[in-house]
Amino acid sequence: MANKPLVVHTVKDLRAQVRAFRATGERVALVPTMGALHQGHESLVRKAREAADRTVVSIFVNPAQFGPNEDFDRYPRTLDADVEKLSSLNVDVVYAPSVSEMYPDGHATTRITVEGPSAGLESDFRPHFFTGVATVVGKLFIQCMPDCAIFGEKDYQQLKVVTRMVRDLDLPIAIIPAPTLRETDGLALSSRNAYLTPQERAIAPIIHEALSRAATAIRAGANPEEAILRARQTISTRGLEVDYVVARNAETLAPLKQPGEPMRLLAAAWLGTTRLIDNLPA
Ligand code: PAF
Repeated sequence: MANKPLVVHTVKDLRAQVRAFRATGERVALVPTMGALHQGHESLVRKAREAADRTVVSIFVNPAQFGPNEDFDRYPRTLDADVEKLSSLNVDVVYAPSVSEMYPDGHATTRITVEGPSAGLESDFRPHFFTGVATVVGKLFIQCMPDCAIFGEKDYQQLKVVTRMVRDLDLPIAIIPAPTLRETDGLALSSRNAYLTPQERAIAPIIHEALSRAATAIRAGANPEEAILRARQTISTRGLEVDYVVARNAETLAPLKQPGEPMRLLAAAWLGTTRLIDNLPA
């Protein structure tokens, strides 16, 4: 039976609710999102429900992680539909703060900057991004104080940055990864897929297809650099503008140094005015 979640908009109300859960010894999981929820988010919520007694989903389109020319203004905002979806998943609390609740004095002047896994890749193209993410996730963690938090592997570098932040700051929060959900043609689910025209939508699975072929070739003994170069060419040939297609150490995201390292293939490319990212193990 559907259970409508309690929707709170302030840190004070969130804390009161989480305190009430804790008072009876319940464990709390947080699923941080920017809303526009799709089945990928639903799978994060299911993981949260397995991991803890109570689930809090935050919905906040975080201005601090968007650059001045990025899609902050056009990012889909669908709070009512999101709450409806979360009702059928038995989420306990939706935390939907306003920008002024999250950043009362304007944008945060105290920021969290994580080094290590944030170097390169997304940071080369979105220099503000991980400081914006780490700052808001750090604030969400302190506001909610969950036992665990769920992050999708779709944003693999983000997952590694948050994991590093929690370790470096000794936050007592377990970071639980959740696998990427895909359409039947391989396209990774993303709120930004909503921007794609029908023609672009038909081309978009090429990123996953090219990465899969590279991963298969590498596992069969191909040189990673050559396999990656082919993937890059395949993606560009279909008219996408590639930001990066790389093979990296799956844990540190540093460039590969020696054979046998755990490997992750990561890509970001523009399809028209939409930027798509994806990644796979190899
Ligand atoms: O992955 C996202 O949706 C966002 O980057 C997050 C983690 C909610 C922080 O704003």
